[in-house]
Amino acid sequence: GTQEWAAGHGKVILLGEHAVVYGRHAIAAPLPLAIRARVEDARDGTTLLIPRWGIEQRLQQPARPGSFLQSLTLLLERLGLSQRALHIQVAPEMPRAMGLGGSAALAVAVIRALDRHCALGLDDASVCALAFECEKIAHGTPSGVDNTVATHGQALLYRRGEPATIRPLALKQPLPLVIGLSGSESLTARMVARVRQAWLQHPARYERIFDEIDVLTRHALDALEAHDLGELGELMNICQGQLNALQVSSPEIEELVQLAREHGALGAKLTGGGGGGAVIALCPDNGARVARAMRDAGYQALEVCFG
Ligand code: PMV
Repeated sequence: GTQEWAAGHGKVILLGEHAVVYGRHAIAAPLPLAIRARVEDARDGTTLLIPRWGIEQRLQQPARPGSFLQSLTLLLERLGLSQRALHIQVAPEMPRAMGLGGSAALAVAVIRALDRHCALGLDDASVCALAFECEKIAHGTPSGVDNTVATHGQALLYRRGEPATIRPLALKQPLPLVIGLSGSESLTARMVARVRQAWLQHPARYERIFDEIDVLTRHALDALEAHDLGELGELMNICQGQLNALQVSSPEIEELVQLAREHGALGAKLTGGGGGGAVIALCPDNGARVARAMRDAGYQALEVCFG
């Protein structure tokens, strides 16, 4: 019925961000945090309401390029709903633009809410494909990993392609992670564009970095399967070095990574687009200590389980 809220999951990328845009593997899993949406009929015009993010917009307004309003306009067109008057309400459980896949989660939640309210009968593949169109508006050249995890809500190995490789991962035990929020917005679109610029200038140099990240990601898959957390942590640390080589880190990210390692994390790295956003730290024993150290330094920290 119309009163139910539809959900899109936030995600963390364990390893493989940025390289995944260039056809390498990424390991990602949903967060227990989601974005929820519901749709009702309205009297006049379509409105988008996200009270927690201070957003209240009418669809008639010209949409800022790259904004969710622009995505929404496209969605309504694709779904044949441009002529309907709808009230779209969104309740996010996660912060905006923190490298946790918020834009894809928002798209999936709204698509599912439209599907339910208007009885469109969309399957997961259609939801995922539509969310990918929205991600193109938000990011330019997305790999598709965010909308895939947001749709399926499952830990997976992802590689883009026709069709994409999507291998569900059944972890022996969930991974205890601490997520540290840098407090500045993740600049995913800008970071993806920066990496592309560098790659266009020196393709061979950057292809080598993507290959190295791919090797780390595949070893991480073995470590996950063996539940070898020491090995996984080391691979995360090396991956952070490669992300640094891609120049997508920031002073806040580096501080969070150092804090995590000093307080007993087995490994720590940025997650998502970088340039701000979030850090993940693998903390089987010292999660509370690591989270406290991050908070004492003025950052927000969340303890979650991956997978
Ligand atoms: O910053 P997020 O959560 O949107 O993650 C982006 C991940 C990238 O690999 C940098 C881009 C992509 O499309 O895969």
